[in-house]
Amino acid sequence: MAAERDIKQAVSVLRAGGLVAFPTETVYGLGADASNAGAVAKIFAAKGRPSTHPVIVHLADAAQLAVWTGDIPDAARKLAQKFWPGPLTLILKRARGVSDAVTGGQDTVGLRVPSHPVARRLLARFGGGIAAPSANRHGRVSATTAEHVRREFGAAVECVLDGGEARIGIESTIIDLSGKGATLLRPGWITAGEVEAALGAPLAAPAVGGPRAPGTLAAHYAPRTPLTLAEGDLALELAASLARQGKRVAVLARSARQPLLLGLEWTAAPQDAAGYAHALYASLRRLDESGCDAIIVEKPPQAAEWAAINDRLARAATGSSVLDET
Ligand code: TXA
Ligand code: MG
Repeated sequence: MAAERDIKQAVSVLRAGGLVAFPTETVYGLGADASNAGAVAKIFAAKGRPSTHPVIVHLADAAQLAVWTGDIPDAARKLAQKFWPGPLTLILKRARGVSDAVTGGQDTVGLRVPSHPVARRLLARFGGGIAAPSANRHGRVSATTAEHVRREFGAAVECVLDGGEARIGIESTIIDLSGKGATLLRPGWITAGEVEAALGAPLAAPAVGGPRAPGTLAAHYAPRTPLTLAEGDLALELAASLARQGKRVAVLARSARQPLLLGLEWTAAPQDAAGYAHALYASLRRLDESGCDAIIVEKPPQAAEWAAINDRLARAATGSSVLDET
């Protein structure tokens, strides 16, 4: 776990316009001083991310909202009160002076107060906003440990704060409050139902051609090995038939019925949604690195607490299914 002197060093790197990777309760972030456009540009270069994609600004507390947005609607106060610090990002109208580097040239800004103790200490010491997307190369699986970040970026990121395994394991819920009503842009561990209950109003679905959000692109969070999602028995049958054809197949399944077949790399996924989310990206990385020809994932249940997991799995599978190849 990052010591006080690591945090001090990270603060000096941020002040000097450098990059700092840090843990949050969702996934690791790749951070830069949000008020320094040159520093933010380095994030895009390191990730290989298009410069028109906005990044989330992380804050020490909700009191800093007024620095970043001129307009704090009641709904934002309610959600901040209920869920911050925590895994929720609010999209609000940007204040004058918030750089295009952060907003991707849009008139809105994404803001979040994370709850991880290391992130909180870093933000409190730094004092300003830290712009940070997930610490992974563009389109790839997010990092949930400091080791994943180091493997992803090597020497390109000089400072990596270690905060252990990210507790939640998938990215924050994103709610857009910049227009009329509230819109769910990205499902996360805080469910749409919980947000609706806090607001006392229903959420709208995102408009087609709405704000740019790479996490909402159809193909994202993807391993390099083709990934196929299939229902229970079908997943097992597909894996078995590929293995019989001589392929090496990595399987991520909650089912206990592991077929006894050569060439199957089996990972038992947790039964509960919290455990599944926590382990998901580390499992996908490991399966991706196992040198298999295909990854088969047994589809989890459809209940509300699985919505964010199903969203990430569907994006990881898009355009890369082993079924598309044959
Ligand atoms: O849990 C998380 O949200 C993690 C941790 C590090 O905080 N961050 C994260 O960042 O997932 P990133 O950049 O990988 O995904 C943030 C999403 C992107 O899809 C981005 O386009 C969207 O938030 N976003 C940021 N600012 C926005 C804005 N002004 N309007 C619409 N979408 C925005
Ligand atoms: Mg990301």
